[in-house]
Amino acid sequence: MSNDGVNQGRRRFLTGATCVVGAAGVVGAAVPFVGSWSPSAKAKAAGAPVKANISKIEMGQMVTFEWRGKPVYVVRRSPETLAALNGHDEIFRDPTSAKSKQPAYVDGIHRSIKGKEEYLVIVGLCTHLGCAPMFRPEVGVDPSTGDESENWYGGFFCPCHGSKFDLAGRVYSGVPAPTNLDVPPHFYETNSVIVIGVDQEAS
Ligand code: FES
Repeated sequence: MSNDGVNQGRRRFLTGATCVVGAAGVVGAAVPFVGSWSPSAKAKAAGAPVKANISKIEMGQMVTFEWRGKPVYVVRRSPETLAALNGHDEIFRDPTSAKSKQPAYVDGIHRSIKGKEEYLVIVGLCTHLGCAPMFRPEVGVDPSTGDESENWYGGFFCPCHGSKFDLAGRVYSGVPAPTNLDVPPHFYETNSVIVIGVDQEAS
């Protein structure tokens, strides 16, 4: 990540933690927990749910799991990150996720299940043409230019055509992606295991 032209003193990280899986599109190399449980490859390809062990995700980190051949990003968000989701709806195309794809039991703003706001679970495919957005949690630095930006609160940057999403996967205005990143069906089997790909009542 370039540091050129940036006032280091103004850079802030929401959590101070590092990104485990910054680059997207590397699903095979970034599924550290799924393998011990996952159903067969054939079943996965057919769309079987997968279980994601989130117990080792540190605050501020993102880990990628695989479901239906797609990357699913799980981000652990700090209270500061969650607070920063509010107060600037005007910079987003669909700030309350009214036109975006997510289960009904997920809140429109933080886009998590009630009581589990700490975790964001989203499909890591840009809603423009399907590239894998990169995790860019650093606050105050525009991910497309590296310049200071008052409007960047951390999020995801699509390298293909420059779409930007916040740390709830909400798309910024003025970029090619039409909607927020999708939230897949999921539920918490335990505090440390998320089942991705099915609603709780359907499991
Ligand atoms: S695929 Fe992401 S901006 Fe085009």
